[in-house]
Amino acid sequence: MTCFSSTDESAHYGFSVCMLLEQYRAQLRWEEEGVLELGTGDATAVADVVRSLPGLRVAGYDISAASVETARANIAARGVADRYTVELGDFFDQSDSAGGPSVSTVIANPPYIPAPDGHIVMPELWGGVRGNDLVLRLLKAGYHNVVTAVASYSDPVETVRTAQDLGYRVANFLAMGLDYGTYSSEPKVRDHIRRLCAEGRGWAGEDEYMVAIALFTRNPDVPGDRADQLLRALQLDV
Ligand SMILES: C[S@@+](CC[C@H](N)C(=O)[O-])C[C@H]1O[C@@H](n2cnc3c(N)ncnc32)[C@H](O)[C@@H]1O
Repeated sequence: MTCFSSTDESAHYGFSVCMLLEQYRAQLRWEEEGVLELGTGDATAVADVVRSLPGLRVAGYDISAASVETARANIAARGVADRYTVELGDFFDQSDSAGGPSVSTVIANPPYIPAPDGHIVMPELWGGVRGNDLVLRLLKAGYHNVVTAVASYSDPVETVRTAQDLGYRVANFLAMGLDYGTYSSEPKVRDHIRRLCAEGRGWAGEDEYMVAIALFTRNPDVPGDRADQLLRALQLDV
């Protein structure tokens, strides 16, 4: 097993999480409650966020043993082990065993690689046939606030419309163009992405796509809904 590695993507995730937590500090109440994280990877991006936001506590989970080992070392090296913990295991197991969400905010750069099956370069990154299985599961898990990556080639219209059906609004987001990396470039994945986009289930250029880190919220204190702006930023026609 290896650890997820994509420098630009992780940096965008960390920077965006930091900005959204800062912007919606009062409404998300993370200083009182802390936040949960699905999929820490090597934890570098969010360890830097924890270091720059002194009131923040993060409880993370990852199913990859190699990631958890690396994450713990990186967290210790940044001196935030008292406020950023990582457990080996499926995020949804802890969520289910707690009998529902124990905090209101979850953050994630979840697996979103679409492929016909999970036999891909890093199976832990498989997001199901359309790539959005884990983000949909996260949205259905009952959290008030979900800060998550939404990829342009992983059926973002279905993701956003499902979120709306569940009572979420898109408070805000930060979008960035990314070049295909190791995981999207795998021929089996690349061909599948091309098919999904041809079916109208996403957007990708020849070697690029878009990712947004979006705050989906059910909190009435957070105004507005930028769902359609999010989809347009991901190059979808709405
Ligand atoms: C795209 S990587 C993101 C890693 C890190 N957050 C970052 O942005 O650098 C997704 C991570 O989620 C982990 N993962 C996949 N399914 C999971 C699950 N059900 N519970 C917890 N972690 C999971 C993978 O092992 C992988 O490390």
